[in-house]
Amino acid sequence: MLQNPSHPAINIIPRPASLILVPGECSVLSTTVIQSHSAFTQEAVFLATRLRLATGWEVPITGTDSFPQATTAFPSALVPTDHERSRTSDRFVIKITLADVDGEGGALGEEDYELTTTSFRVEITAKAAAGVFHGIQTLLQLFPPAIFSHCARIDVAWKLPKVTVRDRPRFGWRGAMLDCARHFFPVSDVKAFIDLLALHKLNVFHWHLTDDQGWRVEIKKYPRLTEIGAWRKETMRGHSSARLGGDGIPHGGFYTQDEVREIVAYATARHITIVPEIDMPGHSRAAIAAYPHLGSSDTPVDVWTEWGVTDAILNPGPETIRFCEDVLTEIMALFPGKFIHIGGDEAMKTQWVANPKIGQFMGEVGAKTPEELQRWFILRINEFLVRNGRRLVGWDEILEGGPVPDATIMGWRGWLNAGVKAAQSGHDVVMTPSSFTYLNHYQSEDIENEPISIGGRFISLEMAYTYEPVAAELTDEQAARVIGIQASLWTEYIGDRMLLERSEEH
Ligand code: ACM
Repeated sequence: MLQNPSHPAINIIPRPASLILVPGECSVLSTTVIQSHSAFTQEAVFLATRLRLATGWEVPITGTDSFPQATTAFPSALVPTDHERSRTSDRFVIKITLADVDGEGGALGEEDYELTTTSFRVEITAKAAAGVFHGIQTLLQLFPPAIFSHCARIDVAWKLPKVTVRDRPRFGWRGAMLDCARHFFPVSDVKAFIDLLALHKLNVFHWHLTDDQGWRVEIKKYPRLTEIGAWRKETMRGHSSARLGGDGIPHGGFYTQDEVREIVAYATARHITIVPEIDMPGHSRAAIAAYPHLGSSDTPVDVWTEWGVTDAILNPGPETIRFCEDVLTEIMALFPGKFIHIGGDEAMKTQWVANPKIGQFMGEVGAKTPEELQRWFILRINEFLVRNGRRLVGWDEILEGGPVPDATIMGWRGWLNAGVKAAQSGHDVVMTPSSFTYLNHYQSEDIENEPISIGGRFISLEMAYTYEPVAAELTDEQAARVIGIQASLWTEYIGDRMLLERSEEH
């Protein structure tokens, strides 16, 4: 018997908290039935659907206490016939059980689960549907990889190792960000990305929806945001440092509010919360192109066709604040999660400094520096979100003008510095340092043969895995402020799904 969460023969990602492996295998048969507690019907249907796609088997779902009478909890097609009832003993059973007492490791959390595979059955036990869902992902990872096939693989012997896995996540926020602003990805690609999150038991999809190069979400009150802001006339070729000029090919797209609702439902069914990001006051050139009065300079701008940081920045006046509140009102109606990301990174202040009206405004609101003006702006938005029962998330730059009470900070600059400073100053922090967790950096030393990347240093899989998000210098109280970790995927140089999903192959 082996108790080793990193056993080489078992490839569960992320590594579970505890794994016991016993000799032997179990063969999962075409007679498989899922017996599920009624609280977990949605998860049982998810598993049955995957099994059907990959194995070709119709896997019935029944209640946990043998086969139930026909109840409304199950679609009638899934209620077994009398013939099936009589054959239960031949069946391979996957049982999904509600844990009514806490597990060996103490109180069970919502995302915890226990999975046991024996010769004739599999049992997943959890207190809540999120835990069951994670148990199902672990079960899928224990099958041969063909379990992820989209056609029936009758050539595969469906065997599982005999294990007991007990698992609980270390962090409550396990995220991945996708930038759909620099390049637009259709709904099907976004869903595929969400599926990858689910497979890895990540529970936050940070959706970067607006930037200088495109505004990607329909806002009913401001139609020009997508009529104008969702389209750029071309995209720069090659790396931005090479200055090769534009490709002459228009690029754009946006998600209608109906599509957003569909994606939210898709993520919710996978126990993933979406954190939408609407960037302000910088990274907002597409919005300024659509509504020039929001800008800080009289020179009109287009939706940007280049990569990098532009000096276009929202002005902090009352009309802009109203615009931001209106946009966030529609965003809050679409996204039920608590957290709303307002960006706040890389906001160049040159236009603020050059504009005498903004200089006067700084005096009126008592801001002594442009950073303090940005803080004033962020505090207004923070108040608005808090008043609406939400929490503001911002990149670590939002603390440059001073603390923002109640804000959650995403630390991306420096290995630990920005996040450490944020935790020390009493903010909740999600760690996504660019030098460990940005997926858009090079993935090998062989830069010549890699697709163009944004630059930055090569991040090996090993480096990413060994990254420890809680800095040693934090006190216990400050360490508790590190609520999670996130991988971020910026798409300046990633124009399609093939590049998006590219893994380390070298
Ligand atoms: C960022 O990478 N600009 C947050």
